[in-house]
Amino acid sequence: MHISLRQLRVFEAVAHNHSYTRAAEELHLSQPAVSMQVRQLEDEIGLPLFERLGKRIVTTEAGRELYHYSRAINRALREMEEVLESLKGINRGSLQVAVASTVNYFAPRLLAVFQKRYPGINLRLDVTNREMLVQMLDSNSVDLVLMGLPPKNVEVESEAFMDNPLVVVAPPDHPLAHQHCIPVERLAEETFVMREAGSGTRKAMERFFSERGLLIRHGMQMTRNEAVKQAVRSGLGLSVVSLHTIELELETRRLVTLDVEGFPDRRQWYLVYRRGKRLSPAASAFRDFVLAEAASIAAPQTPT
Ligand code: PGA
Repeated sequence: MHISLRQLRVFEAVAHNHSYTRAAEELHLSQPAVSMQVRQLEDEIGLPLFERLGKRIVTTEAGRELYHYSRAINRALREMEEVLESLKGINRGSLQVAVASTVNYFAPRLLAVFQKRYPGINLRLDVTNREMLVQMLDSNSVDLVLMGLPPKNVEVESEAFMDNPLVVVAPPDHPLAHQHCIPVERLAEETFVMREAGSGTRKAMERFFSERGLLIRHGMQMTRNEAVKQAVRSGLGLSVVSLHTIELELETRRLVTLDVEGFPDRRQWYLVYRRGKRLSPAASAFRDFVLAEAASIAAPQTPT
């Protein structure tokens, strides 16, 4: 049987994503390329590996057996890469960092400073949602992750490196824009533009309000911070966002933060990696850099 390591990687990505499209995104391949690899693997094995249940793709019995072995093989391969990577000097390795979408407002600034200091490191940045970040940690397919809330269902090491203040945003002509010490209960009269269910910002917002026994009226839901900001500017409602995402809008007064009791809600950003992971010299250098310097390079302005 001739099975390639590439086919196993593609197979594993389809199996844990239950989707050819999501596997293609994760692997930075086109969807036809992913389907072709799976088809060739099925031809080689002589058994179907996936079947369709409605919109979901699930593994057949043969697929489940193969998944068991391919996970073990892929983990061993990544470990091998880590060991070989650790034998390279700090300035020759490669480094894969994955960040939550909100982190992407400051991650490039960090990477730019780091890359100047270590020009020989081959850096790759993935920007994705929380669910994918957790999967990447689980399958050990990333060196370091920057995110808002470390996962509880995967064994990880996590270290806080910077404040992540959450603020209530409104268009400048909103009736609450010039009021001070707005009681939080007043927000129950407003509609809120929401991020998608998997967003860390949304989780924090829901926790903040439920801890105060407040029911918030949900308006439109959007999967991107940029869309949320446009919606708030257009008067579709208020929202709660990370201060990191609105530095430009505050500067140009396209949005304002409201002076609501309890806000800014102080959260933290965390650097996260799989527990027991052998960090390469490049990954260790990035970890040390983020913990020591991220806050001075990328801390957001305090709202007035
Ligand atoms: P997110 O931000 O809302 O873009 O997922 C990450 C987080 O705050 O956990």
